[in-house]
Amino acid sequence: MSSYVIEGGRRLLGECEVQGAKNSALPILAATLLCDGKCSVHNCPDILDVGATCDILRHLGCTAERNGHTVSVDSQGASGFEIPEPLMREMRSSVIFLGAILARNGRVRLSTPGGCEIGLRPIDLHLDAMKKMGAKISEEYGHIECSAHDGLHGTNITLSFPSVGATENIMIAGSTAKGITTVVNAAREPEISDLADFLNCCGARISGAGQGTLTIEGVKKLSGCEHTVIPDRIAAATYMAAAAATGGHVRIDNIIPAHLGPVIDLFEEAGCRITTDCKSVTVAAPKLLGSVKMIRTMPYPGFPTDIHSPIAAMLTKAKGTSVIIETIFENRFKYTGELVRFGAKLRVDGRMAVIEGVPVLHGARVITPDLRGGAALMIAGLAAEGETVITDIKHIERGYESPEKTISGLSGLMRRIDNDGSE
Ligand code: UD1
Repeated sequence: MSSYVIEGGRRLLGECEVQGAKNSALPILAATLLCDGKCSVHNCPDILDVGATCDILRHLGCTAERNGHTVSVDSQGASGFEIPEPLMREMRSSVIFLGAILARNGRVRLSTPGGCEIGLRPIDLHLDAMKKMGAKISEEYGHIECSAHDGLHGTNITLSFPSVGATENIMIAGSTAKGITTVVNAAREPEISDLADFLNCCGARISGAGQGTLTIEGVKKLSGCEHTVIPDRIAAATYMAAAAATGGHVRIDNIIPAHLGPVIDLFEEAGCRITTDCKSVTVAAPKLLGSVKMIRTMPYPGFPTDIHSPIAAMLTKAKGTSVIIETIFENRFKYTGELVRFGAKLRVDGRMAVIEGVPVLHGARVITPDLRGGAALMIAGLAAEGETVITDIKHIERGYESPEKTISGLSGLMRRIDNDGSE
């Protein structure tokens, strides 16, 4: 099993660039399935989830080639309609292919995504929307099959919760459906706007992205295009938290500061000096962070659930007690048990984590519980005195591109050790 070894207790200093957004790249790559002609998607992060997405595209009959941070997809002849279970398991967000396969081939068969490390993750909103658009759905143990042999049609959909994935599936499926689809209470995340920009560049007619009500005017076909994925606001916030937890001074480049509104407010509340320009954010942390009153995770533009665990790790050494309430995913707290191994003082009560700051953390041997929980362990390791070993790092590598290189570039000491012991 590969691992990260961190020698903690050093301030992070300097500049780093942030990768392209995982949560944009995945739906955009899924949407390429609907395009006639080649798509070139630039600024795709080199992470396991992008690799798994390319594997699914190839399984469906596309060519998908990676050249640096550009993934080129040609979906000509992609007639596959089933994602087998091993590929579904490899990437839990593979449900994002539902709308694209259904719209392209009139039929899709998926194994149920099932439980997930951060919560149940049901897909009822996705399925209800496809049904409203004309799909027939049958579920048998472990599999879901949707068919729409006469094509999908536009309709009015009101989501009971602004689900990111369901909004994306509706946008993709609605792009080539007959007529107009409207989505009320659509997700407003920046990644939704990025997907709309990509689809519109391919010839779709989507308006209202980012505003809560979407209108998708179906077109006959989409063509290939070139698109550059937006910067990853979650990775940016993770490196901001690493800088703050080590009392560091770091500028993070290639970001869109407007995507980090409530995150920046939180760092300021914890006593960091934050400066932004149009493409970067600089965190200058005090020696001792202050606690924060209460963080409540919410759909965008609220405080992102993906940053809950990195922020919790950052606050373990703050002066005083902080509270985080998780409203999106019920099981985001697995990281807390691992943080306790560093000497952190946390307790979980239902959906609330209470973090009592301690003066020192000590290096520990820990196991990555999930993607963002893994990021929390990296931050704790960097802030702790002594050596930390993090195992099961494939969860971290699902979403972060070579974090050991980013941290080393900031004067941190973090190495990746391969299965066979090589670096
Ligand atoms: C996406 C992001 C993930 C982020 C999340 C919320 C990707 C690949 N992943 O996940 O990083 O944390 O948005 O910002 O983009 N729900 C239902 N029924 C459904 C769908 C969702 O009950 O059919 C519930 C979920 O269980 C969860 C909440 O809605 O409690 C949010 O889920 P959703 O917004 O759909 O998140 P994802 O698209 O899975």
